Amino acid sequence: MCGIVGYVGERKVEEVLIDGLKRLEYRGYDSCGLALASSEMEIYRKRAKGRIENLASAVSKNPPGLRNSGIAHTRWATHGEPNEDNAHPHSDCSGEIVVVHNGIIENFSQLKEELIAKEHVFSSQTDTEVIAHLIEEKLKEVSKSFGIKHNVLEPVFFEAFRRAVNLLKGSFALGAIWAKTPDMILSARMQSPLVIGAGENENFLSSDVSAFLKYTKKVYFVEDGEIVVLRRGGANFFDLKGKKKAKEISTINWDLSMAEKGGYRHFMLKEIHEQADSVENTMAGRLLPLEENKVFEEIGLKAELAAKISEVQIIACGTAFHAGLAGRYVFEKLGIKTSADLASEFENRAALLDKNTLVIAVSQSGETADTIHAVKMAKRNGNNVLAITNTLGSSITRESDYTFYTHCGPEIGVASTKAFLGQLTAFYMLALNLSKSKGLLKHENLSKYSQELLRLPSLIKDTLGLENKIEKLTEAFSSKEHYLFIARDISYPVALEGALKIKEISYVHAEGYAAGEMKHGPIAIIEQGMPVIAIATSSSQLDLIRGNMEEARARGAELIAVVDEESRKNVKAKHYLEVPLINELFSAAISVIPLQLFAYYIALQRKCDIDKPRNLAKSVTVR
Ligand code: M6R
Repeated sequence: MCGIVGYVGERKVEEVLIDGLKRLEYRGYDSCGLALASSEMEIYRKRAKGRIENLASAVSKNPPGLRNSGIAHTRWATHGEPNEDNAHPHSDCSGEIVVVHNGIIENFSQLKEELIAKEHVFSSQTDTEVIAHLIEEKLKEVSKSFGIKHNVLEPVFFEAFRRAVNLLKGSFALGAIWAKTPDMILSARMQSPLVIGAGENENFLSSDVSAFLKYTKKVYFVEDGEIVVLRRGGANFFDLKGKKKAKEISTINWDLSMAEKGGYRHFMLKEIHEQADSVENTMAGRLLPLEENKVFEEIGLKAELAAKISEVQIIACGTAFHAGLAGRYVFEKLGIKTSADLASEFENRAALLDKNTLVIAVSQSGETADTIHAVKMAKRNGNNVLAITNTLGSSITRESDYTFYTHCGPEIGVASTKAFLGQLTAFYMLALNLSKSKGLLKHENLSKYSQELLRLPSLIKDTLGLENKIEKLTEAFSSKEHYLFIARDISYPVALEGALKIKEISYVHAEGYAAGEMKHGPIAIIEQGMPVIAIATSSSQLDLIRGNMEEARARGAELIAVVDEESRKNVKAKHYLEVPLINELFSAAISVIPLQLFAYYIALQRKCDIDKPRNLAKSVTVR
């Protein structure tokens, strides 16, 4: 986790880097830093504990002057506590070589011992620092053969960097500069995201396009095992042996306003409000005409292969897992046997999958390490893998056979909201298409379900009308430290998601339970005044959930019920959040919205840092 940025060009380098870091802060935010190179062949380095503002103020107190290139980093600690010494960029003994790194160097202890034996002095506890010293060591080696003459400095640095990169084990996206070659940044990727922005007489590197989107939409996606040489005039790509590679340029269709707050107080709230559009964009051009199975056509899944799929196995983490669990209910209600597993708990199951099982891996970022590992395990077993992701060119798309993009636009808030809706929509469409192509769904049912699906965007907008009521309601609950979310069947993943949202942004204890499980233990924790939030929308399970709510009330719970106009007539609760009525297959996409808003306003009352909750990062790129 962590974010890296690099820039070479005519703009004020420190401004480009700090702006880029602010856009990447969601990837980690316990410390940050930057390093710049100048024609005077000296390095300017500044680091700070905490947020980017601290770094910006340190830089403005001691401005760097004219600079040619620079690299920067925002950190989510893996090795070494979050303090200034452990903040990137890290340097070699001379202070002339500086490195930023996202990922984990697995063999860093061994490399460090070898370097210490060669009298390198370390000043941090990080795995990253070994990279700077390793390049220094390789520079000595290469200089002997090349000779340090001014006209060969760039090839010398490249070769030293290449040799160092070849010794690293683990995951990395790297940026490195050397004081003696101020017009060049070197970069490399192995299992951590890295993208190059191609501008006019300027170039960028970053963990994510949002860092440079305001300057260019032209990008190169760097592959594992590639080294990049970045100069003002362009980017060149090499393999680990140093052989030059041709590379295709892509164009990003997001614009910057999509990645900015647009008048909302937090990205999370903006993204909650964007959910109707997210669903619309996920469906656009893919649902109708029903006969054409447009989804499979788009992702390249041939009808013969679709017909052979015997089962579906879903893998994902966090919110994406909750979408996957809802997806499981959707597939099964449409007649297709499905399992859903946490990607981090999937390893042993992968080898037992039937070869005709379609594996669906869900990841907003497409960079979640556990999900990517699970995809690799499924591929190793010989299964076809379909990725559902929101991120163009992300790692998961390269590991999978097929990709279904949700097209929700950038999700910046650490708490995932609109991505969840996009993922649910993807599942609805995939399940309808698969069920139809296997002859399990009659045309009239397909048409009925599709009509419901098409209503979703407008029903989502109606549901957002609950916002003021929810804001008021949370005033009475903001000091509560424990919450229970209960639901049944396809609403169960919504209960899990409601609990996750409140935990991660409000830091209070919350549990989501399958309501039928309450009597098997959890009901013991209910005491007078404990908030219990029940999803009690119209469904075949409504009578059962009503019974579970009664049991909770009898033990002192203060009940908040998510209902629709039909179910409200029969549900007894202290507070009601009434959402529009929809076929139960699609109800999760509606009933989750009041829970997202509830979590948001509780966090707001508790004055929590909503977009950047403590201890978390947006993409979990380490296992
Ligand atoms: O990028 P991904 O969808 O793979 O991320 C998975 C989880 O890390 C993510 O959903 C996480 O649980 C969110 N913070 C939840 O709001």
